[in-house]
Amino acid sequence: MEKTFLMVKPDGVQRNLVGEIINRFESKGFKLVGAKLMKISNDLAETHYGEHKERPFFGELVQFITSGPVFAMVWEGENVIPIARDMMGKTNPLEAASGTVRGDFGMTVGKNIIHGSDSPESAEREINLFFNKDDVLSYSKQDSEWIY
Ligand code: TYD
Ligand code: MG
Repeated sequence: MEKTFLMVKPDGVQRNLVGEIINRFESKGFKLVGAKLMKISNDLAETHYGEHKERPFFGELVQFITSGPVFAMVWEGENVIPIARDMMGKTNPLEAASGTVRGDFGMTVGKNIIHGSDSPESAEREINLFFNKDDVLSYSKQDSEWIY
């Protein structure tokens, strides 16, 4: 089953949005298979956001993502990668639709509440970067026959 890496960024943790965000993905029907509250090191931040290292906002991005605890998660479900991206909304909250996490709670592109993998390749890379294999669980839920 498809998996993705989602993370409540430091602004989302400080604004008490962890529960709200978990609730949205749980209610949609996805399954939480890994989760931890953690502080991101500089090295991990630079690796995670490596694709952006030449961009002008890279320094601020690394500073922000390491500025306080984040809530890192692995979610599982059919098409969870594109559907979670859709539920997050566009990168810039100015363009993010109402009903999305960024559209409902974000104000600026710098502090946009949530991260989510954008492809199967980045999901695999990011899950392995943040989680040990043993900390991503495989289990069944009784109600999955009502979801699919
Ligand atoms: P990006 O991967 O383009 O967006 P997304 O998080 O939607 O995949 O950018 C990564 C993060 O970098 C983004 O969530 C917020 C930050 N960022 C800025 O601070 N300024 C910018 O102009 C852009 C494009 C991103
Ligand atoms: Mg991205």
